[in-house]
Formats: sequence, C-alpha cells, structure tokens
Amino acid sequence: MKDSFDPNLLSELVDSAHNPPGGDPVLAAFYSCLVEMAGNDEPITTVLMSVKKKRPDITYKHLVNLIYRAFQAVKFKKKDLSYQILLDTTGWRKELKKLYSDQKDRTYFEKLLRTKSTTTTIYQRYAGPYAIAAYFWDSKPVLLADLGCGGNYGLRGIEVGAPFKHIDDQTPGKIVQKLIDKKINFKEGLAIDKENPDDPKVSLWRMACSFYPQELPTIDSVMKFESKIQQSTKVKFIQADLLSSQRLPANSCDVVILSMILYQLNLGQQLSLIVRAKRLLKKGGIMIVQDFAAKNLVNPQHLDFNDSWFGQQFSFRTFVTGSKTNWVFWEIFQWGNGRCLSVRAGEDFARIF
Ligand SMILES: C[S@@+](CC[C@H](N)C(=O)[O-])C[C@H]1O[C@@H](n2cnc3c(N)ncnc32)[C@H](O)[C@@H]1O
Repeated sequence: MKDSFDPNLLSELVDSAHNPPGGDPVLAAFYSCLVEMAGNDEPITTVLMSVKKKRPDITYKHLVNLIYRAFQAVKFKKKDLSYQILLDTTGWRKELKKLYSDQKDRTYFEKLLRTKSTTTTIYQRYAGPYAIAAYFWDSKPVLLADLGCGGNYGLRGIEVGAPFKHIDDQTPGKIVQKLIDKKINFKEGLAIDKENPDDPKVSLWRMACSFYPQELPTIDSVMKFESKIQQSTKVKFIQADLLSSQRLPANSCDVVILSMILYQLNLGQQLSLIVRAKRLLKKGGIMIVQDFAAKNLVNPQHLDFNDSWFGQQFSFRTFVTGSKTNWVFWEIFQWGNGRCLSVRAGEDFARIF
C-alpha cells in the first residue's frame, strides 16, 4: 500500500524520522508515526499529497517541515502543550487521530498546510551577520536590510542591543565571539517580509514555527524579547512580496541579509531574489546568505539547498558575496545547527579574516 504514497514525500518523512529537527526525540517519534501511517489511507497523510498537488512549488522538505508546525499551531490555539512528552509512535497516533476527529482542528490544520510557509525566527541566527558587519564596518555607521525577516527580530534586536547567547566558538582566535561582543554603529535598518510580524495571527503562527518540543520551556524568554524589540525606532518594516515588489530602494544598504528564506523558493525564484537583493546594495556593500546550503561546485555564483538539514552537523552556513568576492559566494562560517550556538570556520574564512 505504501506504493500508492508519493515516494519523495515518504523519503522526506523517513529522513525527518531518522534525523529529526534539532535532534529532538519527540519529533523523531512524530515523524516515525507519519511514516507508519503513510500509504494506509490515513487522512492525515493523504492530505499531504493533495497539498503538494495544490502547491507544486513547495519543496518536499518545506512541506514536511510544515506538518509539525501546523500541528503545533492547532495545539497553541488551545493552549495545550501536553504533546511535548510523546516519545513513541503509539502516543502520537492517538494524538493525530484526536486532531482528525475534531472537524474544527482538522480544517484549521489543513488550511495552514495549504496556505502557510514556515516562518521560524531565531535571533541567535543574526550573530553571524552581526560579526561580519562588525568586522567590515567596525565603528562606521552601517545600514542593514533583512529580507524575509520573519518576526523582524534580527535588526530590531541589534538596534536595541539585545545580547546574543554565548557561542562555542571554534574559529581561529574565537573571532565570532569577539566580534559579537563589539558594538556596531547601527544607522538604520530595513526589514521586509510578506507577513506583518506584529499581526497577532502572524505572531501565533511564528511561535508555532519557532520551537521544537524540547525548546517549549523557553517560550517566556522569547515573549520578553518580543516586547523589548518594540523599543526599536530605526528599523523600517515593509510588508511586500520580495519576488514582485517595486518598492525596494536601490543602492540604499551596506549589508543585505537573507537568512533562511532562499530554501523556501525554487531555483528560478532564488536567482531572481538574489538579483533583487544585489540592487539594494550601495557600492562596496555585501550580501550575507545563511541557510542549510553548500557552494555549487560548478557555478560559484550559486548555492545548493538540497542537503539533509539535520542529518549532518555544521551544514547551516553563512556565505558572503559582493564586489569584494567578485560576486561569488564565500563560505565564512559553519554552524552546529540552525540554532547557532556553536561555530567553526567555513571554507573561505581565511579569505576575509
Ligand atoms: C524561515 S523564516 C526566516 C526568518 C528569519 N530571517 C530567520 O532567519 O530567523 C522565512 C521568512 O521568509 C518569508 N518569505 C518567504 N518568501 C517570501 C517572499 N516571496 N517575500 C517576502 N517574504 C518571504 C516568510 O514569510 C518567512 O517569514
């Protein structure tokens, strides 16, 4: 019966069961349960195939990532976090059947799958771009842009001086930790996303996207951070689709950051967004891309986004491109994972530092 199930979807589910996001054992059980259910006419897994048909542009990886987020959003709405201890497929099977037996929950879950993109936002991910900006601009005023800003944590957090967490820094001279301890001269910021980060519905979805089960005890500290960044006055937010907007101000920024947005786009859209991001840069400016990506060996102006995210450590990386690199991508940092608490030098680290 598994034969009737989309093999690409099954293979992504299996990958997530073996290499769960964040190494979280609750997520390993969640995805193992979906693997067991796949191809057995279970509505929760057949709906995934129909979502893929309706959203042909969504990558399998993104869709599989979305399933847990949609489940978590349903539970957050009901303020029910009891699932965070489910470590076996039997418990998950009961939980998922319960979700599907409630018509309202089921409708909401399926609507999220059909319409949403993951919008996980992690302030710590901005430590790498901050370090690079601090290195190049030092105390000179710097204008930063954040494309696909999600909760708009990055620039607002930097402006209000929110500290980054301590990093297990394996780079020569522990340069990342040294640079994030420096104060940059933040002149202005421009943050763009297709969703308004301060809309309560968007905020609920972002929260559902931003925590692995084992991270749920940290929700309160993230809520405190969200209220602190409301003090920001120098970051302009534009709600726009980056692939079509005519409102992007040309030659206006020193540093343009694309953190975890390109993986959500197909190759054509990635290339078009990179061209648009380039136009935002002032002369001598740099573009920083962070993602689960690797340099394309044939064309160094491209990145590949197809790696297994969680199977291999240090596959979340920070790349720099610009006139300084002759517009090829240089890989500067490799992070332990997308939570950015440990870092080592990337392949091209020494070309900058
Ligand atoms: C995974 S989040 C990344 C958030 C943040 N940059 C970080 O690294 O923590 C990706 C964000 O890209 C946004 N996005 C995706 N496609 C977009 C588009 N075409 N135009 C504007 N924003 C887009 C999504 O709405 C989402 O908020």
